[in-house]
Amino acid sequence: MRTIPVKTNPPYAVMIGPGLLGNCGERLKAAVPPCRMAVVTDSTVGPLYLGAVRESLTAAGYAVSAYTFPAGEGSKHFETLSGILEFLAEERLTRTDCLTALGGGVVGDMAGFAAACYLRGIRYVQMPTTLLAAVDSSVGGKTAIDLKAGKNLAGAFLQPAAVLCDTDCLGTLPRPVFAGGAAEAIKTGVLCDEALFALFEDGALKAGPAEVIARCVAYKAGVVERDEKEQGERKLLNLGHTVGHAIEKCSGYAIAHGHAVAAGLAVIARAAEALGWTEEPLAGRICACLHKNALPISTEYSPELLAEAALADKKRAGENITVVLPRKIGRCELKTMPVAELLPVIRAGWEA
Ligand code: NAD
Ligand code: GLY
Repeated sequence: MRTIPVKTNPPYAVMIGPGLLGNCGERLKAAVPPCRMAVVTDSTVGPLYLGAVRESLTAAGYAVSAYTFPAGEGSKHFETLSGILEFLAEERLTRTDCLTALGGGVVGDMAGFAAACYLRGIRYVQMPTTLLAAVDSSVGGKTAIDLKAGKNLAGAFLQPAAVLCDTDCLGTLPRPVFAGGAAEAIKTGVLCDEALFALFEDGALKAGPAEVIARCVAYKAGVVERDEKEQGERKLLNLGHTVGHAIEKCSGYAIAHGHAVAAGLAVIARAAEALGWTEEPLAGRICACLHKNALPISTEYSPELLAEAALADKKRAGENITVVLPRKIGRCELKTMPVAELLPVIRAGWEA
């Protein structure tokens, strides 16, 4: 097992390795002593992994209850949040108790936000079961739900008490869901680690998932330690997300987050190169890598639709919007521009 510390206040550990869910109770005890533990999961993950988690937590002395909601981004809304909060109250969880998010990024965002709201904040643990949640969403304490106006528009920052990432869970992922996680890992490679990016370039992941997850988590931990509330450097993690969130919204969330981010990354890479902002030719290499990993590199939505959707995003600040631009593979920078400049940028990178 690899353990990566995240030195926020309070700090926590990300444990990564095979077979961790089977003894999650003992592994969690140091971070969260036995208490009432409400496990939040979804209708796909629950039947696969809730039994083992419940058994291990119970054996370690936790009083376990479970709340399951329908799988998918379509559940990431206020009604699901309300259902979880009412459940926690019915189960009489107190401030010394804890939630566990057992699932992908949707479960993590929902359970994390519920933990941030309930009794004005109780502890929660992340047990990511998708590659996307393992490499990105389970770490860093961003929690949110979608509103009609856009993605992740209501939420809170709350760091988990621990993250326990059992790499065996990746074995049951449908291929498109695995690919969605690869998009966030490729994004991390473009941000900071050309060697990580290169691992994905022939489409046959040349390293075990634990290695990829550990590299992504170590990078993200550093960024979050320096900028927990996204005042500066953390905005870099939104590479590909301005257009990606717009694609998700335009599709009514039929296009999954990781796939939308991949297309958004392709658009911004082509735009950066076309507008002379890059230090090396990179758009072709990024698009080829995404394509090899069964990810989209274009979108059917017009630049006008995308720009309109993106301007409702929380990355807008007044009359400006901050976009993440790749300069070379392994280095990106933030560019703040007037909102009127976003449409020409998207046009420069758009390909149907
Ligand atoms: P998801 O949680 O919807 O999971 C995708 C599908 O895979 C679901 O149907 C789920 O039930 C299923 N699944 C999960 N684990 C499985 C397993 N081991 N075996 C079989 N099926 C499994 O989606 P996701 O791609 O994990 O996460 C996307 C979400 O994460 C988006 O809502 C996005 O906004 C959010 N996100 C949050 C952050 C953050 O920092 N908070 C970062 C990136 C993405
Ligand atoms: N996934 C972006 C962030 O955590 O900041």
